Formats: sequence, C-alpha cells, structure tokens
Amino acid sequence: MNRSTEDELQATITDMVVPCKGILAADESTPTIAKRFAAIGATSTVELQRAYRSLLFTTPGIEKFISGAILFEDTLEQIADDGTPLPEVLVRKGIVPGVKVDKGKIPLANAFGDEITQGLDGLAERLRIYKVQGARFAKWREVYSISEQNPTILGIEANAEMLARYAAVCQEEGFVPIVEPEVLIDGNHTLERCFEVTEAVIHAVFQALHRHRVIMEYTVLKPSMVLPGKEHPVKASPEQVAAATIKVLRRTVPAAVPSINFLSGGQLPEEATANLNAINILFPNAPWALSFSYARALQQPALKAWAGKAENGFAAQQVFYHRAQLNGWASCGKYNSELEK
Ligand code: 13P
Repeated sequence: MNRSTEDELQATITDMVVPCKGILAADESTPTIAKRFAAIGATSTVELQRAYRSLLFTTPGIEKFISGAILFEDTLEQIADDGTPLPEVLVRKGIVPGVKVDKGKIPLANAFGDEITQGLDGLAERLRIYKVQGARFAKWREVYSISEQNPTILGIEANAEMLARYAAVCQEEGFVPIVEPEVLIDGNHTLERCFEVTEAVIHAVFQALHRHRVIMEYTVLKPSMVLPGKEHPVKASPEQVAAATIKVLRRTVPAAVPSINFLSGGQLPEEATANLNAINILFPNAPWALSFSYARALQQPALKAWAGKAENGFAAQQVFYHRAQLNGWASCGKYNSELEK
C-alpha cells in the first residue's frame, strides 16, 4: 500500500474514533426503510426517505456524540431541506460520511440455514464513485442465524472470506472498512450458545482478514453483543452481557484494531445503551475503543415521534438528540438509567 493511501486511512480513523462518540447507522436499504416507515404508519417514498434523513442529520448538536454516519448509497446523492447535499451536512458538523456497500444476502449453497452477502463484483469501481460523493468509510454485513446446526463450519468460513475480500478492496481504495459479522438475536438459544457461535465467527473473520493482508490499524469491527436469544426465557443483565461480550472480544480481536462499534440487533434502545455502558465500565482500559454503530436503537424513538409528519420534526430531533447523548455517555461508561428521564 502506498504512503498516501495509508495517510488517508489513518486520517479517517482519527476522525471516526473519538472518545465518547459513536457511529449512526442510517443505511437502511429501500426495503428495510419501507418496513421501518410501515411500523409508524407512513408510506415509503424517495422524498420521505430524504426528508427523514435530512431531519436526522440536521439535528443540532448531534456531532457532540456522533463522529460518523453510515449512509445508503442513494442518500449520498440527496439534499437537505436547504439544498445542501446530505454528505456535506455531515462534513460541516465534523461527522465522517460512510456508505453501506453490500448488496444484501442470499442462501449459501450447501450450507442449509446459512446465508451469504453479495456485492463484491465491481466494488472498487463503486467505491471510486462513492468517494467523489464524499464517503470515506464503508460497511459490509454478514449474518449468522443460530440453530442447532447453524452456523455451519462452511457458513462461518465462507462469510469470513467475504468480509476479508471486501475489507481488502476497501483499504486499497482508501476506505476504512467496517467489518460487520452479525450473530442474530432470533431464537431461544442460551447466552452460552451465543458466546460459542460469536467466538467461532469473530475468530474466523480475523483469520481471514489476516490471510487477505487487511491492515488491522485501519479496520473497525462492528459485532453483535453476546446475548441470550430473544425467545429465551431468561434475560441477561447488562453485567452478564458485558462480561460475556468482553471475554469473546479479548480472545479474538487483535489489540491493533482501533475501535469496536456494536450493532444494536433488535435490543430495546435502553437495553443497547445499558449494555454498552456496562461493557465500558467493566473494561475501561480495553485496547480498542468500545462504542456504538446503532441503527434501530438510535432511531426508533425518534422515528416514532416523527411518524412521517413534517410538523413533528422538531420533537423528533429532540428525541434523537437525547438518544445520541445517552449512547455517547455509554460509550465512555458515564450513563445511568436515571438519565433516561
Ligand atoms: P441495528 O443497530 O438496528 O442492528 O443496525 C445496525 C446495522 O448497521 C445493521 O446492518
């Protein structure tokens, strides 16, 4: 890798990884945002998507808690209500724009129950266009369901290989890759089963990253937390989630990785915040930053307050600001549930 690409990657890491700040994931694909809008009784149109993301990004003061935002590729071309391109709105606040570059998942052949994400073909060319549009980092998600048989060894290996190939192309093009292996919360599995799967998954991901010569110093990991399945009768406390999550990360993630930004994965907003806070309290001297890259846990309350109506914009921004602030505090272990009020 040449010197100027390394400098570019380091500058992006420096701007993204800031104490007590995290990443806003606002990269819902067209079908996913339609699902989120349907839940608040709104019909998804391109204009409504633009208006909603404009509302989020122009919320005054969020830059105190948010250092990066992941956009869906269409959003890179959209403008705020005042005509400013949306990536530029972020840049002016010191928030680094990034882009989701995967093309969604399909079943993985010969690994029943496992899936694999598509989108490698033409990735370098697409990244060059996204760069002109203002993006400096990228995101790719692989998904692992837990069942008695899944994920299979084949699934774990194939998905790791995909993440590594994506990350290598990103770095070559001067993009910091966010590597997202998501172990799903769906099911009735125990926390111990989630631990076992997450350890195998992240271990394979870092082996593959190493094999593809991905530079750890310019890579961000976006994992799921170690949790019992949504249908499991016993809930885990933030302290239990934190202890299990940290144990897996200590076993699998090189110290050279600058930041680990968790996804929320269907946890309630308050749970995602409390768990992140417990992680930081339990492990204050971790070699990596431990922060958030939430979509649902950051947006859900604001989405509800907005309900697709322009007249609710101000109220929605206040709710969004509050959630961003609470997560900012959690990312340095300074949150407590009293602050929810
Ligand atoms: P959630 O925080 O809603 O899990 O979304 C994170 C994300 O980026 C999914 O790819």
